[in-house]
Amino acid sequence: MSVNRVVRLAKRPAPGLISPDIFEIRDEPMPEPAEGEFRVAIEYVSLDPAMRGWVNEGKSYVPPVGLGDVMRAFAVGRVEVSRHPDFKEGDAVAGLLGAQSHAICDGRNVQRADTSIAPLQSWIGGLGMPGWTAYFGLLRVGALKEGDTVVVSAASGAVGQIVGQIARIKGARAVGIAGGERKCRALIEEDGFDAAVDYKAGDLAADLDKACPDGIDVYFESVGGEILDAVLPRMNTFGRIAVCGLISAYNATSVPDGPKNLRYLLTSRLKMQGFIVFDFADELPVALADLSQWVSQGRLKFREDVREGGLDVFPQTLNLLFSGDNFGKLSLKV
Ligand SMILES: NC(=O)c1ccc[n+]([C@@H]2O[C@H](COP(=O)([O-])OP(=O)(O)OC[C@H]3O[C@@H](n4cnc5c(N)ncnc54)[C@H](OP(=O)(O)O)[C@@H]3O)[C@@H](O)[C@H]2O)c1
Repeated sequence: MSVNRVVRLAKRPAPGLISPDIFEIRDEPMPEPAEGEFRVAIEYVSLDPAMRGWVNEGKSYVPPVGLGDVMRAFAVGRVEVSRHPDFKEGDAVAGLLGAQSHAICDGRNVQRADTSIAPLQSWIGGLGMPGWTAYFGLLRVGALKEGDTVVVSAASGAVGQIVGQIARIKGARAVGIAGGERKCRALIEEDGFDAAVDYKAGDLAADLDKACPDGIDVYFESVGGEILDAVLPRMNTFGRIAVCGLISAYNATSVPDGPKNLRYLLTSRLKMQGFIVFDFADELPVALADLSQWVSQGRLKFREDVREGGLDVFPQTLNLLFSGDNFGKLSLKV
């Protein structure tokens, strides 16, 4: 008898990296679709830094995952049984299907994954939520203009690699900040960034000066902490900071220090705005059309880090995002 392998949240984590036992991973009876529903056999589950926040109690932009609930996760797969008029066996779909091997869906809140444009797993990566985040964060929140210098942190990851490539497509100068020589080299040689700064090399301020001789017009913030403090004094007048994420604080065991260089918001008349990708849900078709076109034209590429081991290694794979051991969009093959 076939079963559904499911990752459920068993308890709330303590501050710091999550320990695997906050999740219970088990086999459950295979769910059957009712009239108007279909069942998806999930092939890839996405690992996203936001998951660290989703398992915490407290106020955020979405309710926390409930104790005992299937872990919230983007995933992509194929319809295997359908009682829905618009979805048939074999159709590829992506969405918030959960960390499990099979999901029941009523067709709302899923995208069709067109594998003639990009492989299945890219629909939870560059053509999925991380790609939309890069698109809206850079173009709407960052209000990118041709000729701008854009700096993006966590640059080699799921979102950052797309930010830099879109910046180049739009005629801007792209500078990536990433950890280590291998990631920085790939940003320039494979992703087309104009410059890369290794924040682990020890001289972030001087290296940023070298990489950005004309200052910074748009900073796409994914990290926070010391990197934000190094960027702030280098922002040009009327520059924009799109706050996408603050990953350096997600596992903090005490309240992190605030930015030391906030005075540059005033003296350089900067605009700093946080955003959540879902704020732009109404505009999703526009982003998907542009991203898909750039992929088809060979102007946008995706670096994907797909891990084996199935759902049983979900907890430890999630933690790779916080040690920097992922290289590109991290997902699990189910
Ligand atoms: N606002 C939104 O709607 C939205 C949507 C999606 C993602 N995000 C945010 O975007 C950011 C990137 O997400 P992603 O999915 O693209 O992840 P990712 O970049 O693929 O992976 C995370 C990367 O962050 C870097 N990192 C981890 N801890 C760090 C630290 N303490 N200091 C500096 N760098 C650190 C590591 O790269 P290095 O090896 O280079 O250190 C790691 O590879 C996250 O902050 C995430 O929360 C926000």
